[in-house]
Amino acid sequence: MPFPADVARTGDAPFALDGATVRGDPDAAEHLRALVRTRTGVDLGTGGGIALTVDGAGPAESYRLEVSATGIRIAGADAAGLFYGVQTLGQLVHRDGDAWVVPSLRIFDAPRFAYRGVMLDVARHFHDVATVRAYIDRAASLKLNVLHLHLSDDQGWRLELRSRPELTAKASATAVDGAAGGFYAQDEYQQIVAYAASRHMTVVPEFDMPGHTHAVGLAYPEIAAAPVVEVITEGSVPVAGEPYTGIGVGFSSLRIGDEATDAFVRDVYTELAELTPGPWLHFGGDESLGTDPEDFARFVAQTSAVITALGKTPVAWHEAGAAADLAPGTIGQFWGFVSPTDAAARHARAFAERGGRLVLSPADAVYLDMKPTADSPLGLTWANGPTSLARAYGWEPTGVVEGIGEEAILGVEAPLWTETVATLEDIDALAFPRIAAAAEIAWSPASGAERSWESFRGRVGGLGPLWTTLGIRFPALEEVPWTA
Ligand code: ACM
Repeated sequence: MPFPADVARTGDAPFALDGATVRGDPDAAEHLRALVRTRTGVDLGTGGGIALTVDGAGPAESYRLEVSATGIRIAGADAAGLFYGVQTLGQLVHRDGDAWVVPSLRIFDAPRFAYRGVMLDVARHFHDVATVRAYIDRAASLKLNVLHLHLSDDQGWRLELRSRPELTAKASATAVDGAAGGFYAQDEYQQIVAYAASRHMTVVPEFDMPGHTHAVGLAYPEIAAAPVVEVITEGSVPVAGEPYTGIGVGFSSLRIGDEATDAFVRDVYTELAELTPGPWLHFGGDESLGTDPEDFARFVAQTSAVITALGKTPVAWHEAGAAADLAPGTIGQFWGFVSPTDAAARHARAFAERGGRLVLSPADAVYLDMKPTADSPLGLTWANGPTSLARAYGWEPTGVVEGIGEEAILGVEAPLWTETVATLEDIDALAFPRIAAAAEIAWSPASGAERSWESFRGRVGGLGPLWTTLGIRFPALEEVPWTA
């Protein structure tokens, strides 16, 4: 999971793990030792039975895995490919009588899409570094390679900036329902970036604007427009200058066309670019319901140009496609439904028409914060929820936006908004097992005998024991035939 590009069983006897030894790439060997120890209690010695190499052959992130009764070889095209081969090997380990074994087979595997993401909203509820590391481990084990961090929203600003210290000093203390807030000091953010890199994940940081900026107004009231409370359909009403702990959306906006706002935008993205080694900076752009449309278009064009001038590729939610002067090459993140409205589809196509590509996050399929079942205590339902595992799996990226085919799709991302999500246990309860559906859609070939709901649900069930030993508290959805 996700199903590999090509698998052939050889019919040979399985490889026995007890007493096995590993040699080759030290980082991959350490990951494999830790995974096997956690899963089985077996400590792999140093020696030769399992050989791990990076050999430069094949597409980016690809690997070849060969298991016979006498040995295992994993060769990665690059370090990421080797890491993914190790993850696959970890999934293949199973109990046979008294022994831990790996079935004999040959796998060639490579990803369909280059961008395979998860998003964690750390604004509605703050999630500390340890929680983010745990989510990185979970996502990377499924060959996901992007962690999008939603670092600011109406409820709080979550990254310390030296150029703008008031943001965290005045706008980070609270969260939804009066929960404690928090923020990442710069060295903590850098720890997250480094930990993600060690699992071959790139961090895509987001400061959401011009909407979703009530918290900015706590620090810099002069650049915040008055809240437009008429747009709120759910959640409490905000008061300018006071922390917002509700879950309403769309009511806040930066003041556009003001030199102080322009200076703020330049400062925050300049510093974010300095802190972020990855190529992408996300500037939000969603649900700016209280912003005049012409001002919105002007702001989005200007902000995308600022980010481009910093040497980064801007990313924005699809509404930003409404701006005629969006910087060429801006990546659009589509969050409409699998059957989109005309406006959402038009906005998404606008990115491709300007030389950008799309990241697909259809809300009624891959928003992990939707309830998985009607009786789930956590989660929301606004995106046609509850969202079953079958629905999370049952969509095809090239079938969403008319005119947006394989070439225009950079990848797939499963966001987790955290209005109802306060702990790692809550993250597990909503992300699993649906995160596996997003991973398979992003990684595996579009078709093939195993790209079916029946195969997928069986393979999800087979991962239950591994996920349990990894400490993942997934809900035992009735849709899945879980392996005891
Ligand atoms: C979004 O769900 N507002 C991107």
